[in-house]
Amino acid sequence: MTEMNPVTAYTDGDVDTNESTQRSLESMAAERYSRRSAMFRGAGATTMAFMGTSLLAACGDDGEGGSIGGAVSVSAGSSVATSAGRVVTLTGTVSGNGQDAGWNQRTGPEVALMGSGATVTFIAPAVAAATDLVFQFSAKPLIGDAVTATTTVRVSPAVLGFTAVAHSLSDVAMVPEGYSVTIMTRLGDPIAAGVSAYANDGSDADFDKRIGDHHDALHYFGLSAAGAPDRNSSTRGLMVQNHENITETYLHPAGPSAAPRPLAEALKEIECHGVSVVEYVDGGNRKWTYKQDSTFNRRITPNTPMSFHGPAAGSAFLVTAYSKDGTAGRGTINNCANGVTGWNTNLTCEENYAGYFRRDAADDAKRTPAELASLRRNGITSRSGNYSWSTASSTDTRFTRWNATITGAAATDDFRYEPNQYGWVVEIDPYNPTSTPRKRTALGRFGHEGAFVRIAAGQKLGAYMGDDSRGEYLYKFVSNETWAAADADATDRLAVGDKYLDAGTLYVARFNADGTGTWLPLVYSPTFPKRPASGTYPEYTFTSQADICVNTRFAADAVGATPMDRPEWTVGNPVTGEIYLTLTNSNNSFRPVTGTNAANPRSYNDPKGPSNSAQTGNPNGHIVRLREDGDTTSATTFKWDIYLFGADSTDADPTNVNISGLTTANDFSSPDGAYFSRSTNPSGQINPLMWIETDDGALTDRTNCMLLAAIPGHVGDGGAYTVNNAGNTQNTFVGAKATAANLRRFLVGPVECEITGIDQTPDGRTLFVGIQHPGEGGSYSAPTSHWPYSQDGSTPAASVRPRSALIAITKNDGGVIGL
Ligand code: FEO
Ligand code: CA
Ligand code: CA
Repeated sequence: MTEMNPVTAYTDGDVDTNESTQRSLESMAAERYSRRSAMFRGAGATTMAFMGTSLLAACGDDGEGGSIGGAVSVSAGSSVATSAGRVVTLTGTVSGNGQDAGWNQRTGPEVALMGSGATVTFIAPAVAAATDLVFQFSAKPLIGDAVTATTTVRVSPAVLGFTAVAHSLSDVAMVPEGYSVTIMTRLGDPIAAGVSAYANDGSDADFDKRIGDHHDALHYFGLSAAGAPDRNSSTRGLMVQNHENITETYLHPAGPSAAPRPLAEALKEIECHGVSVVEYVDGGNRKWTYKQDSTFNRRITPNTPMSFHGPAAGSAFLVTAYSKDGTAGRGTINNCANGVTGWNTNLTCEENYAGYFRRDAADDAKRTPAELASLRRNGITSRSGNYSWSTASSTDTRFTRWNATITGAAATDDFRYEPNQYGWVVEIDPYNPTSTPRKRTALGRFGHEGAFVRIAAGQKLGAYMGDDSRGEYLYKFVSNETWAAADADATDRLAVGDKYLDAGTLYVARFNADGTGTWLPLVYSPTFPKRPASGTYPEYTFTSQADICVNTRFAADAVGATPMDRPEWTVGNPVTGEIYLTLTNSNNSFRPVTGTNAANPRSYNDPKGPSNSAQTGNPNGHIVRLREDGDTTSATTFKWDIYLFGADSTDADPTNVNISGLTTANDFSSPDGAYFSRSTNPSGQINPLMWIETDDGALTDRTNCMLLAAIPGHVGDGGAYTVNNAGNTQNTFVGAKATAANLRRFLVGPVECEITGIDQTPDGRTLFVGIQHPGEGGSYSAPTSHWPYSQDGSTPAASVRPRSALIAITKNDGGVIGL
């Protein structure tokens, strides 16, 4: 047997003939063995037996030794091949009276061995090319030296390791063979001691102590055994999840009452919105439960006190009867995607807040032209407001504030500027349940989908943000301060947020026709361009940076940003730093065949259903990606291409619509959520997995909404392309085509849901996914879904109401999800 040098891994080095002055291999191996034994003991208490995907059974390299007490021989089994992220089981065998049998690693990237004795397991590490890991099995005779044998595990780079999930219209969250779904927190689950279980018949109240509705973006913040922040904990954590909206019919005994709304009904609906923070615990082997009475648990609702920070804080734009100096606010609403900072805080993003406000017809005449233009540009035009909450009381400002009509003599007397209090990025410290969330106005005000934060050593913080409406823009915020690593573990986390999120430069993206892009600064000066008059909008002149932060859409119009097909999530590849932006879809009004641009190049019809009803514009959406020039967050120019085009592979024109070459195993429509696996596990290293969630209504004649796993390439891996939109040509830049190896459907959700929110444990062995609004088209008297009660394949009673819920997905053999 030839031993291999544990340091360089590929160089043969015989212990007995090593003449170098380096420490001997033997001494290094002894050190490694004792380190591994310690690892072993630590892991042994919490890990169980695994079903190996790579069983080493046959005899391989054998060792023999001992004489007194009988000969002892060992076998380490034969060599095997696997790929990154898979579970490997090492099984040694001992013949004779061998003692202290055990394994240690001799060469290759270091792995943590789990278990003890003759059988141990490990997760194959990420590798850039096939790499051999050598393990030694040993046992001692009663007297004499240990006998050893080695075996080699050849690890190949990560691949998608599951069979694609087929289209499904069933009322079940379908996952690949070999995976399991655990239902976690559902709408209404109690998150405080003493709160009753959810009856789910419309009778429940106390939603400030229950999980909200419409589960959206989520993030798992690890907790140590002592209850401190711990980025490496995969067994205990705080789940921070957005609750974007409600399915009103299921919240009341017989649906919602007509306006004027009963106060209790309106309060329940308001409190179903916002954010939840809930402690999750792994009971062993990824058996997740939540802790109802955890002192970390918290609901943040539209009534929770907040403070304003950054350029617009304290400005006249934010003054209300509640906030007479414009620095305070109440609550957050329509929280869609999120962001995570480098200092353990959560960013929740306020998306379609505009629709919740009522503004009476008489209000138009009371507004200045600038105010009226701002209200219209931001969509504050409803005469009732979603759910008519303002009708629930004439005196209680928790309800009257949803009416933005001017009623008083001054802004301190009414809620004329209450809509300006929403549309922000809000920072929450999940580890401090009594902290006041901070609205970060420097990041602009619009239909904030999310805020992907990129932090790199020696660079300024970058936050990438989509504005989710048709024809809106992609933004970037760059901090003034350069990242200091010591801030990562600061205890006053919101003070770190003040440092990086209150002062910086806000930019908006222009995608040029030649595949380059420009970040256009939105920085006030007396020469900042006016927003030209158009349609019903008069010319708009900016007066301050606070004005630009509040009226960010106007500022972006003024500098010539590129209107996109509904910018949803932003996410960065943790290895390349490239930023991906999902563009969920658009229609013919915004994207006619004569109205495409290079970054939004398609306008077509996707026929739907048995009658082939027309869906025109860009009903299937696409995903654009960009690489900053110089790979820095503060770059003002970039390169872009279109990573993927959504399409119905069955009926799409393969040249001009299904440009990515999707098949029934990976076709999708309306990409929304996007996520890269964490860089703490093999699925987020070297060639990280990207996850794509859909919020679709165009391909739903064939399948419910879904989650796909991808191994994307990079900007420029395809090339220039010309799309023919009914005779109108549009030049663009496209990525490499999708293949079965680099894009595969991983999950299909239940009836009428949207797949929203995604994160994993640091070890990558549990994936958390949000299932939003199953059965959204039904009613309390005739629910169209019974999920999650139907998840086990049973048929619940017809009256059983569906619930949004979070699910945990685990691989039955304990491997990394997706690989
Ligand atoms: Fe709330 Fe943009 O989806
Ligand atoms: Ca969304
Ligand atoms: Ca179709």
